[in-house]
Amino acid sequence: MTTTTTDLARNTRRFRQLIGAVAIAVPLAVSTWLLAGLRVSAEVREFRGSYPEDAQPRGVVREVTLTATPAVVPLLDGRPLAVWAYNGQVPGPVLRVRLGETLRVTLVNRLPQPTTIHWHGVRVPNAMDGTPGVTQPPVAPGETFVYEFTPKDAGTFWFHPHLRASEQVARGLFGVLVVEEAEPPPYSRDEVWVLDDWLLDSSGQIFPQFNTRHDLAHDGRWGNVVTVNGTRGTTLAVKAGERIRLRLVNVANGRVFAPDFAGLDARVIAVDGMYAARPLDPAGFELAPGNRLDIDLTIPASLRGKRVPITDHFTGRPIPLAEIVVADEVVETPRFASPARAHVPEWRGAAATPVRAEYRLNARTGGPFGIQWTINDEAFDHDAAHAGDHGSAQVLPAGEFSKLRFVNESYRLHPMHVHGQFFKLLSRNGKPVDEPHWRDTVLLHAQETVDVGMVPVDVGRWMLHCHILEHAESGMMTTVEVRR
Ligand code: C2O
Ligand code: CU
Repeated sequence: MTTTTTDLARNTRRFRQLIGAVAIAVPLAVSTWLLAGLRVSAEVREFRGSYPEDAQPRGVVREVTLTATPAVVPLLDGRPLAVWAYNGQVPGPVLRVRLGETLRVTLVNRLPQPTTIHWHGVRVPNAMDGTPGVTQPPVAPGETFVYEFTPKDAGTFWFHPHLRASEQVARGLFGVLVVEEAEPPPYSRDEVWVLDDWLLDSSGQIFPQFNTRHDLAHDGRWGNVVTVNGTRGTTLAVKAGERIRLRLVNVANGRVFAPDFAGLDARVIAVDGMYAARPLDPAGFELAPGNRLDIDLTIPASLRGKRVPITDHFTGRPIPLAEIVVADEVVETPRFASPARAHVPEWRGAAATPVRAEYRLNARTGGPFGIQWTINDEAFDHDAAHAGDHGSAQVLPAGEFSKLRFVNESYRLHPMHVHGQFFKLLSRNGKPVDEPHWRDTVLLHAQETVDVGMVPVDVGRWMLHCHILEHAESGMMTTVEVRR
């Protein structure tokens, strides 16, 4: 009896302690949860107005046919080069539409392989994203597929196959999509420079082995010839005083460019298609595979009659890219403020936000090419994916802030790209970085850790991968699912 009473008393005391603990713990948990909720919505609130959620189609449809086919073109030094090309051209045609116009592209596949077209950086409806087995079946030789979408953002974008891309892009399948604003800023001219490199064999033709062990063990396939718009010694003839919008696109499989505009009045106005919050110094910008840079370039009168070489400095050994040839004539410079985005969130508080998904990047031996590049120790199985089995996807809640972490456990470069979304760099190796612009691709150097923040608004299953195409082809690819 006594025992029971003591037990009862002890239990009551325990119960009171428990209630006391609960009385403290529950409000604490609730308030932490509320604070977390508030912090998330602060990031989402700050995101609002960054870029439009929906397309605004104006009812104008621009129809284009892109026929992917083997072709022989006078490239590089003007000698015949056997390539694969869109409409017989390398680079493929520059497609220009105005914001609000709808693009309807019929892809005709005359290649000896299946293919698709991916619209890099364009926030398309998921079904138009061109990823085989994930958003559409592969387009078999002889077949066609119609892509139709209204871009939501003005800017510099590009398109390329998303099937055996390491071979198809290297053979010449890529093109640029320029989405002009309804009222484009009054530049004297608007130019596109497609930066690329080619790996040629001793006969001067495209080296016919792809995904070699060498390429896989390094930063992908780096060529022995660097070209701008498909040729060496590209020149841009301008008049002194002209103000040029120069759109740079890196379509190389693996090469990174760091173009030097020193001595010129040059400002970066857009990165990966999207205007920055303010014009930026081009020094230090690295253009990894997939990246774009829009440069606002004014030719001063002091350069009359001169030739200004633009060189690449990424490898430390300068590589000539192109020359700006300035005429004697001087014209008046169009005066207007460099175009800029009204609002890019700073997300200063994001350092404290938990990581939603971490992607560890590494390699191992094995797989069809002998070396596999992995994300979290998994290599993406392209054959299974093309057949419709693309594994499980990391879920990213639409309209909520997500922090993604990339951890490069290797010593190679990895330009990490997410389809259908823009993200902002938050930190490198734990040090906060405030880039006043969006990106769709961020370059990781050896052993680097990078955090990015995003508020995905475009729903669907999207690819996340390294844009060194050999790395992607050998497994460095996965999917995310943006879900409401
Ligand atoms: Cu240029 Cu999957 O991308
Ligand atoms: Cu990579």
